[in-house]
Amino acid sequence: MKRAFLLAALSSLAVTAYAFDPAAAWTDQCAKCHGKTGAGDTKMGKKLSIKDYSLTAEQAKFTDEEAFKAIKLGRTDASGKVRMKAIEGLTDADIKAMVAYFRGLKK
Ligand code: HEC
Repeated sequence: MKRAFLLAALSSLAVTAYAFDPAAAWTDQCAKCHGKTGAGDTKMGKKLSIKDYSLTAEQAKFTDEEAFKAIKLGRTDASGKVRMKAIEGLTDADIKAMVAYFRGLKK
């Protein structure tokens, strides 16, 4: 009985650990630069002159694949200086969910 309970508890933990929440990840890992709404209206966003990704016109300038690469590998400028670091700890499936979330920011 006790053992069955323990197993049930463990398996529900595993489910929790693998459920990826793009909105929470956005708040934790992206919003400090990109802003809650994607407008880049944060201190970091201004410093890095991040574009307003809540605008359809800005989002039209890159493909889903480029967005995926930006998140997975990071972005550098023409001289090789890092503009956005690769985001660690995300699986490819998580990154796809992140791209979809990012696309959803546009007005
Ligand atoms: C350290 C600040 C910083 C953080 C944190 C950050 N970004 Fe970025 N991101 C940038 C900058 C700067 C650019 C613009 C790059 C450029 O202009 O070359 C950018 C661009 C992008 C782009 C557009 C790529 C393209 O092809 O134009 C996407 C998509 C993106 N970020 C997603 C995310 C997501 C999702 C997260 C969180 C998981 C995140 N970013 C976290 C700084 C950041």
